[in-house]
Amino acid sequence: MNKEELISRIKQLKKEKNAIILAHNYQIADVQDIADFVGDSLELSRKAASLKEPMIVFCGVFFMAETAKMLAPEKTVLLPEIDAGCPMADMATAPEVKAWKKNYPEAEVVCYINTNAEVKAECDICCTSSNAAKIVDSIDCDTVLFVPDKNLAAYVSRFAQKRVIPWEGYCYVHDKIMKEDVLKKRALYPDAEVWVHPECRPEVIDLADKVLSTGKMVLEARVTSKKHIIIGTEIGMIYRLKKENPDTNFYPLKETALCSNMKKIDLRSILKALEENRYKIEVPSEIRQKALGTIEKMLVV
Ligand code: 13P
Ligand code: SF4
Repeated sequence: MNKEELISRIKQLKKEKNAIILAHNYQIADVQDIADFVGDSLELSRKAASLKEPMIVFCGVFFMAETAKMLAPEKTVLLPEIDAGCPMADMATAPEVKAWKKNYPEAEVVCYINTNAEVKAECDICCTSSNAAKIVDSIDCDTVLFVPDKNLAAYVSRFAQKRVIPWEGYCYVHDKIMKEDVLKKRALYPDAEVWVHPECRPEVIDLADKVLSTGKMVLEARVTSKKHIIIGTEIGMIYRLKKENPDTNFYPLKETALCSNMKKIDLRSILKALEENRYKIEVPSEIRQKALGTIEKMLVV
């Protein structure tokens, strides 16, 4: 099947099954183009919770589809590639977090949305990259444990009036962006602003003009007067920014900042997902009950 045939078959099946396609900002261009809604982790969670359609084809990584399923348990949530996981989310397991918490009985535990449901079930409140500082600030406790991203924890602790103790996880895609990359790109594009994701290292954040989640990069790009912007996050972001802002020049801070799991889904796997109802995401109800509380607390802050 060629690309046009794939697209038309996906559209036809989507209609027949009353399905909706959600895609993260890092997905490949073809997937972003066929999606009904493209967004960051928080936007996609909110969208999943508010949709009327009975089926969601979730184009992102496992924890995102799992979060959508917990927010919309009556819907069929499909992840077209079952092994599209987030290596950072896999850096913390529920038994490890349970043991860690015991060392800080007075602390509240914040989990980044990039965690698996079992880990969320062990935590007090969830956050995403776009609301992490606000969530930590909202907690009425002097000590906060933050799992799993040490870089996001360090970023949040710049604003927090409390002690933030990090888990030792990180995103391999953002963590490999170095301050030398910023210096090099600034020299190449002296008129450009540098925007980076808060999963970047502290020394990279120190050199940036703006620190933004992927969703906030989209919003900022719509209002900025800057014509040249260096983007410090996964390279898929550049496609969305260019598509929406054809008169602005976006340059990747690091061309090799590529999340291979975010690139696993394509038109063929979306079609297979719709044809075969695969891969259905399920969350055991006792895990869902506890993890959902953590997510819902975040959604009302
Ligand atoms: P956003 O919430 O900014 O979309 O980030 C998700 C993610 O996985 C970043 O690597
Ligand atoms: Fe996980 Fe990093 Fe990929 Fe985001 S970019 S899904 S944090 S590995």
